[in-house]
Amino acid sequence: MYWGLTYLTLFLTASSARTIGTPQQLAARTTAEYAQKQSPLDTNWTADVGTNPWPEYPRPRLQRDEWQTLNGVWQYQSASSLNDVYSPPFGQDLAQEVLIPSCLESGLSGIQATDAYYSWFRTNFTVPGNWSGQDVVLNFGAVDYEATVFVNGKNASFHRGGYFEFSVDISPYLDTSGSNELLIFVHDPTDLNGYVIPIGKQRLVPSHIFYTPCSGIWQSVWLEPVPANYVTQLDLTADMHGQVNVTVHSVYGNGTEVNITVIDGSKVVGSGSGVSDQPFQFNVSDPKLWSPNSPTLYNVTVTMGDDTFQSYTGFRTVSKGTVDGVVRPLLNGEFMFIFGTLDQGYWPDGLYTPPSREAMVYDLQFLKDLGFNMVRKHIKVEPALWYRACDEMGLLVIQDMPSLRPLENILPDDGQQQEFSRQLDLLVNQLKSYTSIFTWVIYNEGWGQITSYYPEFDLTSRVQQLDPTRLVDATSGWHDHGAGDFSDNHHYANPQCGTPFYSIDSSPYDPKRIGIQGEFGGLGNNVSIEHLWNNQDAINSINQTYEIDTDLDAWNHRSHLLLTELQGQVSLYACSVAVWTQTVDVEGEINGLMTYDRRLKRVDEDQWKKDIKGLYDAASNRTSNSTSSSSSS
Ligand SMILES: *[C@@H]1O[C@H](CO)[C@@H](O)[C@H](O)[C@H]1NC(C)=O
Ligand SMILES: *[C@@H]1O[C@H](CO)[C@@H](O)[C@H](O)[C@H]1NC(C)=O
Ligand SMILES: *[C@@H]1O[C@H](CO)[C@@H](O)[C@H](O)[C@H]1NC(C)=O
Ligand SMILES: *[C@@H]1O[C@H](CO)[C@@H](O)[C@H](O)[C@H]1NC(C)=O
Ligand SMILES: *[C@@H]1O[C@H](CO)[C@@H](O)[C@H](O)[C@H]1NC(C)=O
Ligand SMILES: *[C@@H]1O[C@H](CO)[C@@H](O)[C@H](O)[C@H]1NC(C)=O
Ligand SMILES: *[C@@H]1O[C@H](CO)[C@@H](O)[C@H](O)[C@H]1NC(C)=O
Ligand SMILES: *[C@@H]1O[C@H](CO)[C@@H](O)[C@H](O)[C@H]1NC(C)=O
Ligand SMILES: *[C@@H]1O[C@H](CO)[C@@H](O)[C@H](O)[C@H]1NC(C)=O
Ligand SMILES: *[C@@H]1O[C@H](CO)[C@@H](O)[C@H](O)[C@H]1NC(C)=O
Ligand SMILES: *[C@@H]1O[C@H](CO)[C@@H](O)[C@H](O)[C@H]1NC(C)=O
Ligand SMILES: *[C@@H]1O[C@H](CO)[C@@H](O)[C@H](O)[C@H]1NC(C)=O
Repeated sequence: MYWGLTYLTLFLTASSARTIGTPQQLAARTTAEYAQKQSPLDTNWTADVGTNPWPEYPRPRLQRDEWQTLNGVWQYQSASSLNDVYSPPFGQDLAQEVLIPSCLESGLSGIQATDAYYSWFRTNFTVPGNWSGQDVVLNFGAVDYEATVFVNGKNASFHRGGYFEFSVDISPYLDTSGSNELLIFVHDPTDLNGYVIPIGKQRLVPSHIFYTPCSGIWQSVWLEPVPANYVTQLDLTADMHGQVNVTVHSVYGNGTEVNITVIDGSKVVGSGSGVSDQPFQFNVSDPKLWSPNSPTLYNVTVTMGDDTFQSYTGFRTVSKGTVDGVVRPLLNGEFMFIFGTLDQGYWPDGLYTPPSREAMVYDLQFLKDLGFNMVRKHIKVEPALWYRACDEMGLLVIQDMPSLRPLENILPDDGQQQEFSRQLDLLVNQLKSYTSIFTWVIYNEGWGQITSYYPEFDLTSRVQQLDPTRLVDATSGWHDHGAGDFSDNHHYANPQCGTPFYSIDSSPYDPKRIGIQGEFGGLGNNVSIEHLWNNQDAINSINQTYEIDTDLDAWNHRSHLLLTELQGQVSLYACSVAVWTQTVDVEGEINGLMTYDRRLKRVDEDQWKKDIKGLYDAASNRTSNSTSSSSSS
């Protein structure tokens, strides 16, 4: 290729310059070697991250056999403005090395940047010889916030949205016989003046319940060979009656033959065929159903034309219905009490990027072992392997849309609201085929929620249209105008779940909808410095925690009282779902079941297990004698 020659020329020029350059020129071209930076707090997994992080195949719902990770050490350099994207440093070494994937602000990145608004990332790769004749797709798990992708000097793609996967067919730009240069420009304003974008808990100036931002390539990057017409998205749901609904999205978009099989061990238990880009159905008879108590998954193989890949699914139905006069969420037609934690997915060493899959799964297993059957993924989107782990382990997921900034005087303008809505579509389309997700949350506590009109009604309809198989919690806390399937109260410390009593920021329970305590608990307990995020501003904000219990006995005593109170609300009133704040401490917020480093568990495990079981028992006591339940969704 023409570019190949250019690259070679630049490379040779750089090499010869090196041998004859002045000491200053030599120094200027030296890329600082990657090394972890010390975080204000580490975890047991920090030291094992190494330079080949996240070696697992990153996308288990659309898993191709042949692939090559690009995770590892890349080059990095900060840039100074949006205009820098028009003068890319092709063929040049950048100033520093960085670990991919990571947040630039994290210790694991090796950069620990602040104000990382504009950045360049660079690596190179060769295409395996046995991929010849196929197209090559470059996949990103997530890049926060905007990425322009250059391959061998050509602009291959632009993507906006910090939480979403994207792919680009880079075949037209490749040199299949030599080295290829990948250069990426990233723009991430977070909450810089004038920007109102989905950011979740990220803040340029962290404080109390807002934390250090994450910029850059924070999820896996990988290559895979595909035929020219390949599958870009698989929508797959399977219900309690064994009906499987499929839409296979393709590049050509014009109806290529598709075969799909559902496999249990080595036995094919069902199969269907149709064409791409159009929905089709088939039935599996008597499937073992998926539930938190029995999280059965089936392997799935999909073939579309020349493209073949592995996927999986679980058979279950989420709906709502009236049981003994109370509107309830139903799983496979039955009400079960649903109890989980607020799970923010932050790590002291990696911020948004867990140090490893093992670390990520550790949190989930801890919750599962205590008896939780759900987790609320709070205004963040996790790597696909997290959802896979919830599917496997049997943890239902309430998935929040990452929120805009909370201050009422910085509400989105029309364009920003449109972009929020576009990214809500991305969220639902990307995650809707995971078995464990049962509810979408659109707004958290009124953050970014326009109230001069009520956009949550249209957004709720939109989500229901994209995914008719789940429930929608339109407004989790605060400005509830009656949209969605839930009547959601947030209250600290004690719960007010489906109750005829409420407080200043909430409304009384609306019996037309499901009673959920979207947040409660939040009991704090200060610990010794070795378990704290050792940053003075964070430490100064510890006293803003809603309640501080001075020792673990008091903390567990208070936990027991709150869980007992919740149990009373399950027995007497209309409480169906509750969310305890929170899985782990985050920065200056010290109210986790575990500390931020996961090294200290605050919970008295025996007591918590008994109290959690008490919630399920209270719910089944109310319904075990009732046989009639009418269901609708
Ligand atoms: C990428 O470039 C480095 C030098 O920066 C070189 O050592 C390495 O071999 C190159 N890798 C590939 C796959 O071209
Ligand atoms: C291609 O080569 C790699 C090793 O370089 C090997 O792991 C892989 O199985 C090969 N694929 C095919 C389809 O032969
Ligand atoms: C790169 O291409 C995209 C379209 O894919 C375009 O929107 C963007 O402006 C281009 N960026 C540059 C720097 O040329
Ligand atoms: C599957 O599709 C059929 C027909 O469009 C629809 O009636 C049914 O509700 C769908 N089921 C699921 C689980 O998506
Ligand atoms: C689908 O589109 C591809 C590429 O445009 C074309 O080659 C093929 O003939 C089309 N197939 C049908 C059935 O229209
Ligand atoms: C699915 O496939 C994986 C890997 O091949 C295998 O370990 C697992 O047992 C299979 N599960 C089922 C239900 O077939
Ligand atoms: C699947 O089973 C349902 C009854 O549960 C039936 O209405 C539907 O027609 C069947 N679909 C197919 C594709 O056989
Ligand atoms: C789908 O299955 C049919 C019947 O076994 C077969 O003739 C066809 O080639 C298959 N198509 C694909 C794309 O695998
Ligand atoms: C919280 O701590 C900070 C710093 O230690 C102090 O300035 C502030 O007065 C304290 N606030 C309260 C309410 O105790
Ligand atoms: C961390 O390592 C310590 C010391 O080996 C061990 O006691 C502790 O259980 C580990 N914690 C986690 C969360 O793995
Ligand atoms: C459930 O009902 C049984 C039998 O009436 C009773 O012994 C038990 O205490 C009840 N448990 C809860 C949590 O309400
Ligand atoms: C169910 O009803 C029967 C008789 O009405 C009663 O004896 C039993 O305790 C009830 N069970 C529960 C769990 O409430």
